[in-house]
Amino acid sequence: MKVTVVGAGAVGATCADNIARKELCTELVLLDIKEGIAEGKAQDMMQTATLLGFDTKITGSTNDYSKTANSDVVVITSGLPRKPGMTREELIGVNAGIVKGVCENILKHSPNAIIIVISNPMDTMTYLALTSTGLPKNRIIGMGGTLDSSRFKYQLSQHLSCSPSDLNAVVVGGHGDTTMIPLIRLATWNSVPVTNFLSAEQQEKIVKDTMVGGATLTALIGTSAWYAPGAAGAALVEAIVRDEKKLFTCCVALDGEYGQKDICLGVPVTIGRNGWEKILDFGLNESEQAAFNKSADAVRSMNDVLKTL
Ligand code: LAC
Repeated sequence: MKVTVVGAGAVGATCADNIARKELCTELVLLDIKEGIAEGKAQDMMQTATLLGFDTKITGSTNDYSKTANSDVVVITSGLPRKPGMTREELIGVNAGIVKGVCENILKHSPNAIIIVISNPMDTMTYLALTSTGLPKNRIIGMGGTLDSSRFKYQLSQHLSCSPSDLNAVVVGGHGDTTMIPLIRLATWNSVPVTNFLSAEQQEKIVKDTMVGGATLTALIGTSAWYAPGAAGAALVEAIVRDEKKLFTCCVALDGEYGQKDICLGVPVTIGRNGWEKILDFGLNESEQAAFNKSADAVRSMNDVLKTL
């Protein structure tokens, strides 16, 4: 197996680090446009191999896509990150050009790759990757909901004083501060609805804190978060290369599912060797479906901006 991570910034490097530690592939390429950074970080990570005990071979490349040839999975993290006070949506102008170019270069050398999109605004970048490449829809996966669901479980665990691993909870819809929908009604603690244990005020706070999870970290750190985004990307790579059929929320092309068409949005999907394989219908109630439709409207108007660039 060969995996490429495009973008050797904090998210890309963390994603690569997780992939190597878990030995998800024999060959791992880290690529960046900035001279030397990918080579440097790749070497630094390789120097942890004997300490951490992994055999994955990591190579760095300054924009030489021939090194990425025949990758099975490619993770795209390139583009500008958020600064404090910025929305993910404000990045569209710069990041659209970058993501489109990266997709073209990748497919020249790895025509069969499955592409995971992390760059923001993630829903629109996923849609752009799908429409600009014309790849089969199952091979384009946006990472957002995987990260947001993990943040949701973290917030729930803080209020329930429990292990996040004992929780099942998903965030659907867009990967934006106002477009994501933490489905608290369906969240469970070892199969018991979490709503049994939480007051209405607590539920409201958990949902709100989840939605601004990324922005909260951006304000604290001064730039976008990277540990959880990188780990979320690696978790998707793992599900693909190990053909796990694991359920994640991912941003995928909808063709009538959840009442939407011609859009990429976060829904529960199984992930395996073919990319995203099946969309699960979680039976949203009326207000959840209304929130999903509103989220779709917001993402759709962001997608329309692509036509003006
Ligand atoms: C975040 C960025 C990666 O949510 O979108 O932290």
